[in-house]
Amino acid sequence: MTTRILTGITTTGTPHLGNYAGAIRPAIVASRDPQADSFYFLADYHALIKCDDPARIQRSRLEIAATWLACGLDAQRTTFYRQSDIPEITELTWLLTCVTAKGLLNRAHAYKAAVDKNLEGGEDPDTGVTMGLFSYPVLMAADILMFNANKVPVGRDQIQHVEMARDIGQRFNHLFGRGRELFTLPEAVIEAEVATLPGLDGRKMSKSYDNTIPLFGSSRQLKDAIARIVTDSREPGEPKDPDGSHLFTLYQAFATPEQLDEFRADLLAGLAWGEAKQRLLQLLENELGEARERYQTLIARPFDLEDILLAGAAKARRIATPFLGELREAVGLRSFRTEAHSQTAGGKKKAVKTARFVSFREPDGSFRFRFLAADGEELLLSRPFDDPKAVGRISQQLIALGADALELRADEGAQFSLWLDGECMADSPTYADPDALEAAMLRLREAISGLAD
Ligand code: TRP
Repeated sequence: MTTRILTGITTTGTPHLGNYAGAIRPAIVASRDPQADSFYFLADYHALIKCDDPARIQRSRLEIAATWLACGLDAQRTTFYRQSDIPEITELTWLLTCVTAKGLLNRAHAYKAAVDKNLEGGEDPDTGVTMGLFSYPVLMAADILMFNANKVPVGRDQIQHVEMARDIGQRFNHLFGRGRELFTLPEAVIEAEVATLPGLDGRKMSKSYDNTIPLFGSSRQLKDAIARIVTDSREPGEPKDPDGSHLFTLYQAFATPEQLDEFRADLLAGLAWGEAKQRLLQLLENELGEARERYQTLIARPFDLEDILLAGAAKARRIATPFLGELREAVGLRSFRTEAHSQTAGGKKKAVKTARFVSFREPDGSFRFRFLAADGEELLLSRPFDDPKAVGRISQQLIALGADALELRADEGAQFSLWLDGECMADSPTYADPDALEAAMLRLREAISGLAD
């Protein structure tokens, strides 16, 4: 059994070292597991919620796509696409919106934080809050449920959103699944081992703190950023405290255990901070140098990137398009052509329509039935009965008896009748000639035998 793993990357900004260690590297490693069926996508619809600068949106999509591929994501093995290339996702978002309680979304952390901030500032609670921000979790639920993901690797701030996707999926299953699980309920996975990387100043590396180390900047930019890492004022030769130094934590994220032991011992022995930064630079160059070259090649070839992403979208849509068709069907957005059949088949999926007994009441109060072939052709009209239950009993008897044992009597080659226990039960329409009558009897036997299985 393979596990479907899915995660989205919001396309605002340029990936930094923290994104690499915290998300990109572990995701790529996980995608190489033969048991994993990985879906990674650029959450560019989500990016629109946070950013109204088209140039930035576009640049970021390009950079993030190139970053993942440069870092070794295999677009053949995995399904790698842009959210905005899958129109089924927005359509599903609406289906889900219609079953999502507003109260659920009121509780979303990101929305609540925006409201709290407004209230603190004495503003209207909804100042600056778009419907995009409010409905963010529904769009995210559509991303996840569309592909029936089992596991969703995310940061801690996103756990609530995955839980909401579960809630919404469960509600949809309950309303429309007829006992079937239309959606797989996803689980959030938090990588225990992935420490959040500290930034230059020791706080979590994040664009909002302006303390990041660029992932694929030039060697020069990397060097300059490392030079800005804040250290204490201990002089060269003075012992340093590795565990109190975020430079050491950064080193740890990329070093082998042996390299790390050596670094620790050297710091304790008084390694100068300048020297220590030089070692970190070397370590990062070794880890990222080749990927940086691949990145630069990819960025310079946007046409190729476009091709890769469109192929990924086509692969994703081979799943999304038919699945959305099922979901539309489930909620009642069906072709009128399928209407008749879904009513007779009790809404269950059947490849072919079946023949059927249709009973009705005559003006004089008696009951009759017609027996119709799958295509609606009338094959029999019963004699009248006083008891309304007779109709059901007779149809069951006929089915139980089986097609071959039906007693059919033809008269004068124009009409035949159906007999049961020595009694005439029903008559056929009249036919033009004996051949047509023969053929109609055959169709009747076929229709009855079709009901038996
Ligand atoms: N909201 C996620 C984030 O900001 C990105 C995202 C969008 C996502 N859709 C997703 C993550 C679906 C996992 C699954 O990090």
